[in-house]
Amino acid sequence: MSTRANIEELNERNKKMELGGGQKAIDSQHQKGKLTARERIEKLLDPGSFTELDKFVVHRCVNFDMAGKEAPGEGVVTGYGTVDGRLVYVFAQDFTVLGGSLGEMHAQKICKVQELAMKVGAPIIGMNDSGGARIQEAVDSLRGFGDIFYRNVMASGVIPQISVILGPCAGGAVYSPALTDFVFMVKNTSRMFITGPQVIKAVTGEEVTEEELGGAMTHNRTSGVAHFAAEDEEDCMNQIRMLLSYLPANNLEEAPFVETGDNAERMDMDLNEIIPDNPNAPYDMIDVVKKVADNGEFFQTMKYYAANMLTGFIRLDGRTVGIIANQPKVLAGCLDINASDKAARFIRFCDAFNISIVTFVDVPGYMPGTNQEFGGIIRHGAKILYAYSEATVPKLTVITRKSYGGAYIGMCSRHLGADQVFAWPTAEIAVMGAEGAANIIFRKEINSAENPAEKRNELIEDYRKRFATPYYAAERGYVDQVIQPEETRPRLANALEMLSTKRETRPAKKHGNIPL
Ligand code: HXC
Repeated sequence: MSTRANIEELNERNKKMELGGGQKAIDSQHQKGKLTARERIEKLLDPGSFTELDKFVVHRCVNFDMAGKEAPGEGVVTGYGTVDGRLVYVFAQDFTVLGGSLGEMHAQKICKVQELAMKVGAPIIGMNDSGGARIQEAVDSLRGFGDIFYRNVMASGVIPQISVILGPCAGGAVYSPALTDFVFMVKNTSRMFITGPQVIKAVTGEEVTEEELGGAMTHNRTSGVAHFAAEDEEDCMNQIRMLLSYLPANNLEEAPFVETGDNAERMDMDLNEIIPDNPNAPYDMIDVVKKVADNGEFFQTMKYYAANMLTGFIRLDGRTVGIIANQPKVLAGCLDINASDKAARFIRFCDAFNISIVTFVDVPGYMPGTNQEFGGIIRHGAKILYAYSEATVPKLTVITRKSYGGAYIGMCSRHLGADQVFAWPTAEIAVMGAEGAANIIFRKEINSAENPAEKRNELIEDYRKRFATPYYAAERGYVDQVIQPEETRPRLANALEMLSTKRETRPAKKHGNIPL
């Protein structure tokens, strides 16, 4: 063959692979409101930055009709490129080729980029759109999933791992996304479930649609499996790019510093007005976080799940900061099972990736009820204590209002290793609220008074003056600084700068045993 013919052959081979399952399958993908694997990668990465690997890999299955059956690219496109100029690894399952089903060689392609990402220290983004284990390959496909799960676990805490669900993701296939740090879903096209509606109907008799069972909002709002919901694939890719902008490439790096143009010394007088006079009236903690953040930007994670707890990223004086905050607007900001899981997981992510944590506290306590007790609030609530205590990144706490009992300890108190605790003058730090406390410790006095109701009010007021303030805790040094709300941003920025060289070690161990 002439050189020219050789060159031509490569061009032809490339074209064939790039067409995946063919034009008809591509059209069908588009008709479902979905992009193809290559289009997705194009949308996610910086233009022209993608380098493809393993384009010519083929399967070696001969079962059923598979001998001689072509599967261009083995149903997955893999490689690397950049997002905002920073290296990332990607794989995107190609539904146009055998339904994106995962066989031995498909899995090997994914494992290769997982290993490269780990060796080089760069995030990996996996786009899932697949019928699951390739049925014809039997246990070889299961082995493929196992190999991917194993690498997900090896990479956990080393590089950020992001999963994007852009079509079906069912059966055991859901467990690779579940092992990664963040799961994105797209409304109306993404599906995640262990067993689909038909199996459920056969086994339990329940009738449920695919969207209700495993759609984006089910997993964002109800199950907590997913962390982000996008309107469409374009919106999804933009959200992923935004998330990546906050993260370091690996656990040995700092998150990127961004010149935000917002002065660290900027005060915000509105914060002085934010706490209502009525101690039981709600306010929006998101406003507090935004007023403290650079340019008012707060990128929330798990926005729809356990909304009584806020988690997400801000920049403060250009540094990425992880925010954990009670939300008094929802369930009075109580700690419950879901809020505990949400916070603990986020704390551990931040700690693994050198992201300082700022905690805003307004918490009346743990949520009472048999639902919570039977559901294991003891075990789940313990995760927050564990995660904060374990974390060695700089930890700052701002108590805006209520901070009672076990929840005071749990929301990154000094006792769990907060490096600086700030309290607003509106803070109430005590074992419990004034009314409950007075009923218990002054019961005899109240009952024997001439006018018990009057006596009760008087004693509640006494208790409130003594304990429902930040000063008793400040007298002990549990609160480092009582600050005006308006000063919160400069004080936090100053503390983060002061702590920027913080080093803290833990006793050597194989690993701890977080109460799961
Ligand atoms: C082989 C598969 C496949 C699979 C789909 N295809 N899933 N081939 N193995 N798992 C093929 C189809 O035969 C078809 O090929 C093409 O992909 C497109 O599929 P359609 O059914 O035409 O598409 P659609 O109507 O959109 O339905 C998509 C689907 C459905 C809902 C995903 O295909 C489906 O239910 N697939 C099976 C899902 C499943 O049960 N997977 C195993 C799960 S168990 P042609 O040649 O006709 O175009 C699992 C275990 C993992 O994954 C365990 C890990 C530990």
